[in-house]
Amino acid sequence: MASWPLRIVLLSSTLILVRGRGVVLDSQGPVLISEPRSSVEFSNETGAMIHCSAQGSPLPRIDWLMGDGSPVLPIPHIREMLVNGSMYFLPFGAETYRHDVHSAVYRCQASNSVGRVLGREITVKAVVRQKYEVQVRDAYVLPGNTGVLRCEIPTFVKEYVAVTSWVRDSAYNIFPTPKSDDRHHMLPTGELLVFSVTSSDAQSSYRCRTVHRVTGDTVESSSYARLVVTDPHTPVPPRFNERVSPAPIRTGETIVLSCISQGIPPPMYLWFRESVTGTAMIFNSERIYTRAGVLVLQSARAEDAGRYVCHANNTAGSEMVELEVSIISSLSIHLVPQQVTVDLGKDAEFQCSVTGQPIPVIFWTKDGHPVGEGASGRSKITGNDGSTLRVSSVVRDDKGMYQCFAKNDYEMVQATAELRLGGECL
Ligand SMILES: *[C@@H]1O[C@H](CO)[C@@H](O)[C@H](O)[C@H]1NC(C)=O
Ligand SMILES: *[C@@H]1O[C@H](CO)[C@@H](O)[C@H](O)[C@H]1NC(C)=O
Ligand SMILES: *[C@@H]1O[C@H](CO)[C@@H](O)[C@H](O)[C@H]1NC(C)=O
Repeated sequence: MASWPLRIVLLSSTLILVRGRGVVLDSQGPVLISEPRSSVEFSNETGAMIHCSAQGSPLPRIDWLMGDGSPVLPIPHIREMLVNGSMYFLPFGAETYRHDVHSAVYRCQASNSVGRVLGREITVKAVVRQKYEVQVRDAYVLPGNTGVLRCEIPTFVKEYVAVTSWVRDSAYNIFPTPKSDDRHHMLPTGELLVFSVTSSDAQSSYRCRTVHRVTGDTVESSSYARLVVTDPHTPVPPRFNERVSPAPIRTGETIVLSCISQGIPPPMYLWFRESVTGTAMIFNSERIYTRAGVLVLQSARAEDAGRYVCHANNTAGSEMVELEVSIISSLSIHLVPQQVTVDLGKDAEFQCSVTGQPIPVIFWTKDGHPVGEGASGRSKITGNDGSTLRVSSVVRDDKGMYQCFAKNDYEMVQATAELRLGGECL
């Protein structure tokens, strides 16, 4: 008897709601509303909790999958699956590090009676806290030229460790800045430049300081470096220290290009930008700062990608180097329609629009399974980049959740749409 009022409430909420002209079913497929970023790093000291949440009606259930689609299972003292949908990586000792857990690809899924959706692939990386040392070495420089000091970071921690500052003569701190001070410039990439070196600069000693971005450990170089100033007393044509293009840069970050060379007399530098419209000389401006073989371009934009050329010359000769800048801009994705009601036998079409760099590949799923590889022949992916999904002569099994995914080397994003059948008998 007591269940009567309850049943009435349930019936009225699961049947139909009539809103305006349309008839709207009070059920809704799952849509992910928050998921972790494409990359999650944590220290073995802290562990990490990662979370996915979804909306829909009935309220979707959240599960975690490995990158290959198999379910994620709890492992005592290592990995816990919490009832609220979070996954918890416990702090661990180096001896319990497990590659298949601590350096693996995960994704979440949300499902309810309407269908199933998948989250992006999340690369999880646990970092075991380890002691590391950094070193500095003497740098050779011709008088009047630019001296370059580098902080050498061991390869096993290189991807996590950044140079935070330099200390001259144990007293004077030099931090990264967009522009140089009078004599020094610490680049955002970690090198310390000393301009217009004279023999008196050989008196100073330099150390570097670093921080590990996951563990927070800070380490100062145990050794000191000096500038070794040698004067050959004869003209020397410019010779570049190195010819390396910078690593890909994210929009908003600072681009640093270096073509520092050594020569006597000290070389003069000119920078050019090459594009389809031709070659243009680069001058200092609000965003651009150049001095003695370095070009610093702040707040990088997608259109800053391309080829840059640096000329160095003096009376003894000249040299030229070409550097390539590539820009990463975050992906954004949009799928229309987000919800469509189609009568049996009619066609449905979804359009996925993606922006961002590098250009991602696009693929589609229905209820978490890949679509469009010709299986039924009725689902066709078209558009030169695969951005349109067309389902012809819709049948009952076509109802459910459709997703468009976009993936490049840096990121993965997804968008969700629901296909409902029209005139469906309740
Ligand atoms: C899930 O539960 C855990 C443990 O109770 C909690 O620490 C975590 O914050 C919860 N996650 C969310 C998103 O509420
Ligand atoms: C993390 O690893 C370090 C290095 O092996 C170890 O000293 C430390 O105890 C570990 N942390 C935990 C919480 O086990
Ligand atoms: C270096 O090149 C610039 C531009 O081409 C020129 O103006 C300058 O005279 C050159 N300097 C020397 C020392 O040749």
